[in-house]
Amino acid sequence: MSVETRSLDHLVSIESGTVSRELFVNRDIYDQELESIFGRAWLLVGHESLIPNPFDFFLSRMGEDSVILTRDRKGEVHVLLNSCMHRGMKVCRYDKGNARSFTCPYHGWSYSVDDRVAEQPGQLVGVPGFEEHYHCQLDKKAWGLVRCPKVVNYKGTIWASWDENAPPFLDYLGDMKLYLDAALDHRDGSEGGSEVIGGVQRWRIPCNWKFAPENFIGDHYHNISHRSVDLVGIGPSAGRGRRDNEGFESLIIGFPELGHGVIGALPHYEERPYHPAYTNSPVAQEYHREVYERRVRNLGKERRVLTGAATIFPNMSFHGIQPRTLAIFHPQGPTEMEMWRFYLVDKDAPPEVRDVLRHYFLRYSGPGGLTESDDMENWSYATEASKGRMARRHPYNYQMGMGYAKPVEGLKGAVNGGDTTEENARIFYNRWRQFMEGRGWSELMGRN
Ligand code: FES
Ligand code: FE
Repeated sequence: MSVETRSLDHLVSIESGTVSRELFVNRDIYDQELESIFGRAWLLVGHESLIPNPFDFFLSRMGEDSVILTRDRKGEVHVLLNSCMHRGMKVCRYDKGNARSFTCPYHGWSYSVDDRVAEQPGQLVGVPGFEEHYHCQLDKKAWGLVRCPKVVNYKGTIWASWDENAPPFLDYLGDMKLYLDAALDHRDGSEGGSEVIGGVQRWRIPCNWKFAPENFIGDHYHNISHRSVDLVGIGPSAGRGRRDNEGFESLIIGFPELGHGVIGALPHYEERPYHPAYTNSPVAQEYHREVYERRVRNLGKERRVLTGAATIFPNMSFHGIQPRTLAIFHPQGPTEMEMWRFYLVDKDAPPEVRDVLRHYFLRYSGPGGLTESDDMENWSYATEASKGRMARRHPYNYQMGMGYAKPVEGLKGAVNGGDTTEENARIFYNRWRQFMEGRGWSELMGRN
């Protein structure tokens, strides 16, 4: 099947609540996604706390492209394509480090990020044989590493887009910002007061990349999958369950015009009463009580939300409460993805608290986490069982709660689907369809 720029109603029918299985197994569709979605959308590529010092770098990805996040002398972050302009070799093969230049191991071209040597980050500054073999005629300024034109640092998270015409990140985010803030801010409410603890977990799952953001955006009814871990009990407090009862009504809130969505609470002005958690650790217990009290004071009458799980279109998801993490789902072929997890803690949390949180993160998430492994099993078997000739003929069913979502007052463009619905999955695939149809930004952002 080839995908052209045309209506894709036959693949995604919001009206009938069905999505073709081809989206999850088809190579042509996958190749088009790399171009139409990963080549244009804002993508999470890292966190500034991974590159705290000048010339620190961190290797990331955008779609299947390897990219280098690097910080210059002044602290600005740049995103460079990690592929030599001579024959494509990776100029950097370390996950992270500190370097003013990247020298290609193949023929030795070198690229600098030091403004004392290069006018542009990633400029080609060294070419073996420049005089003898190139006769000084190679235009070095024209052959620097490809630099991502749009890079934004939002409360420590680094986002990038290959599309020069992409809208400002905050427009792309819309009022979903409130829910992202609930993950990125300090627990005491101060802005962006979080950092990544313990590096990044990366692992591959034999499933299509879309299973994960769809799950995070609003799959509120797959608890049957987590029955065993709920019986074991891995939460912060003693007793059964994955998490503590956070004491709020979580709803399925989506942004149909933007493709984002959340399982969370509606905006409110009062803090919920402190809910005792971390009862296995008096230090963590006390810490959370103390930051709760500060939050009540700091936020005063400001509007706030609670984020259980959420997705920012296309491939970034996060948890805002417990465990507080960011995830990226990198496409790796139609039936494989590489999943990354970053774990957030308050920048000034004491070591004992960080340690308690680190252990909880590892019990819950990641390739060895008891909860995440349940989800991985579902996604990989669903992919496997959708590949067959007969299986492909039958679409997936997304009909739960169709027509029941209501607008949310005070959240621009948002709808509330209630406690349990597939509204947010429909929102996600409708956005997927719009990107895949090649619509321009003015249409995508409603600026007609
Ligand atoms: Fe990098 Fe040749 S591939 S110098
Ligand atoms: Fe799950």
